Amino acid sequence: MYLALKYLHALTVVISISLFLWRGVLVFSQRSPARWLKIAPHANDTLLLTAAIAMLIVAGINPLDHPWLSGKILLLLAYIGLGSVALKRANLTAFIAALACFGWIVFMAVSKQVWPI
Ligand code: HEM
Repeated sequence: MYLALKYLHALTVVISISLFLWRGVLVFSQRSPARWLKIAPHANDTLLLTAAIAMLIVAGINPLDHPWLSGKILLLLAYIGLGSVALKRANLTAFIAALACFGWIVFMAVSKQVWPI
């Protein structure tokens, strides 16, 4: 069960960053995204978070006991906020900062630590 949820989580992670990059390309080239491209990321991100929460429940993990998990939650909020500013206002700095947050989240997920050193 845990492994299935982890695969679902990882799959939705790949879809999430792909859709974010695609929407970024459209926004910065001043093309309007198709309607489905405005809805699909929310559905996918809901699934991403649901799989994460389900993993915590199945494994009986309290995210506050593990800095890398608490860090993921904080950075997820930053990624959502920065991503929304980036796409609504075509703000490249916010877009790059959102990508950095995403990269850091993946680093924490893989290494189970908050900082690279
Ligand atoms: C944009 C947000 C997120 C991204 C990009 C992300 C990315 C990832 C990736 C790539 C993995 C697989 C790591 C591996 O196989 O070694 C993973 C695993 C995991 N993530 Fe996330 N994650 C995100 C949000 C969250 C949140 C909010 C939580 C809950 C606090 C969470 C909890 C977990 C857990 C429990 C695992 C399994 C760890 C393991 O068993 O190795 N993730 N995440």
